[in-house]
Amino acid sequence: MRQTAIGNTNISVGAIAYGCWRFAESSVEDADTKIRAALDAGLTLIDTADIYGLGEPRGFGGAEAVLGEVLARDPSLRVRMFLATKGGIIPPRPYDSSYDYLTAAMEASLERLQVDSVDLYQIHRPDLIAPVEETARALNDIVSAGKTRFVGVSNFTVAQTRALQAHLDVPLATTQPEFSALHQDPITDGTFDWCSETGATALAWSPLAGGQIPRQTAETSHGQTVIACLQKIADAHAASISDIALAFIMKHQAKIIPIIGTQNPDRIRDSVRAAEIPLTAREFYDIIEAYRGTAMP
Ligand SMILES: NC(=O)c1ccc[n+]([C@@H]2O[C@H](COP(=O)([O-])OP(=O)(O)OC[C@H]3O[C@@H](n4cnc5c(N)ncnc54)[C@H](OP(=O)(O)O)[C@@H]3O)[C@@H](O)[C@H]2O)c1
Repeated sequence: MRQTAIGNTNISVGAIAYGCWRFAESSVEDADTKIRAALDAGLTLIDTADIYGLGEPRGFGGAEAVLGEVLARDPSLRVRMFLATKGGIIPPRPYDSSYDYLTAAMEASLERLQVDSVDLYQIHRPDLIAPVEETARALNDIVSAGKTRFVGVSNFTVAQTRALQAHLDVPLATTQPEFSALHQDPITDGTFDWCSETGATALAWSPLAGGQIPRQTAETSHGQTVIACLQKIADAHAASISDIALAFIMKHQAKIIPIIGTQNPDRIRDSVRAAEIPLTAREFYDIIEAYRGTAMP
């Protein structure tokens, strides 16, 4: 698998990542199969969050706990992965990025994951109440205590990201926006330009629009136009529509890593094909134009 650098570091991960949002109801055996499929295929960044599992029988922390069981059974898996988690969502509040909350949430994640440290700790969503200086102090202390190597944000505007960065002792290594052929806002809202400015890596969540792209179930006629465009390009490359949707994300000049979320080990393995698709510039712009409903000026 092609590699993508994390921030301005010499640490690289697979160009496609694997996410554990839909993981909480997996048995430990099934979870083990999916994690091994991802690592063997080169999807070395494994993304989870403390909240994954809420609303399902295992509840808050459920996805981290299953992954923790997998890691406890075979600790050699931990060294093969770049382990990323998130904290800061706590329904019904719904967000908390205060010092006390985040430092305790970090500890609780480590306990559930049964590890001493993670590679990336991300603030899941911006909290509008906790002072930004306090959130930054929590992240600074978490890094200096060796509980995470890197810190990042998710679902932050560029202005919110810059405000947090101004109080941090370390550079934000990543930002995690929703991005797919059906959700192209980060191209125009400055998120990817902030990545180019700082060297941060973007992690694209729901890169197949949560399954709408492979299932061809976009709800709007505009979404159906994008899907028809992806299908046409897929036919030209004898590839799947998912391959093209992922190749589109990786074609952008910023460092963007799609985080796929399939629960099907074969689909995890098949995703690697997307990293090799020679998508042309014309095809990339065809997808942009299908989304915008107008030709590039
Ligand atoms: N930061 C955030 O706020 C945030 C929010 C959401 C997600 N995330 C991250 O992003 C990761 C991925 O999100 P996601 O799961 O929505 O990603 P996704 O890859 O866009 O969607 C996964 C869904 O697509 C379906 N799918 C994939 N290939 C298919 C195919 N060929 N045919 C039919 N269905 C197919 C999967 O079903 P099968 O399982 O049946 O294949 C699954 O339901 C999460 O695990 C999490 O790490 C972050």
